[in-house]
Amino acid sequence: MSPKQPSVAIYPGSFDPITNGHLDLIQRGSRLFDKLIVSILQNDAKEPLFSVEDRAEMLREVVGVYPNVEIDSFHGLLVDHAKAHSATVLLRGIRAISDYEFELQMALMNRRLSPAVETIFMMANEAYSFISSRLVKEVFSLGGDIGGLVPPPVEARLRQRLYHIQKRET
Ligand code: PNS
Repeated sequence: MSPKQPSVAIYPGSFDPITNGHLDLIQRGSRLFDKLIVSILQNDAKEPLFSVEDRAEMLREVVGVYPNVEIDSFHGLLVDHAKAHSATVLLRGIRAISDYEFELQMALMNRRLSPAVETIFMMANEAYSFISSRLVKEVFSLGGDIGGLVPPPVEARLRQRLYHIQKRET
């Protein structure tokens, strides 16, 4: 009998920036797979607030406590990135029914592109089901309180980043 291959999952996303909702999924996902690779999409068309390097740094700061979690980035097709890592699972979170339609489309497209790679959905923790990176950025830029929505180092980075942007604009 051949030895069992370690289970490798990719958790892809923009993570601009990581929220406590993402972190919760990473923590729970890390218990399900031998290795969980959190992969940041390199796509400047989305006009991210943070560079891929900054996002990767923030992720590394907060996932260091999970020894089987790695941080990576990718461009091109997600299934090709999965194959390059011998990953057989794509992990995605679903917060509400509104997420489902797009997630289903992506999962079916990825299955068509690579039937050997399975998409697994995890339900977001209800405490975080309303959080998105977009809303966090909006609330923070308008002076609202984002305590408890993102890990503390991310809040500090948001403050720095917005300070630089505002300084450039004045
Ligand atoms: O955090 P996001 O922005 O919802 O993540 C979206 C992501 C990165 C999962 C998605 O845009 C993606 O997988 N992009 C890679 C391009 C790709 O493989 N497209 C074809 C399959 S849908």
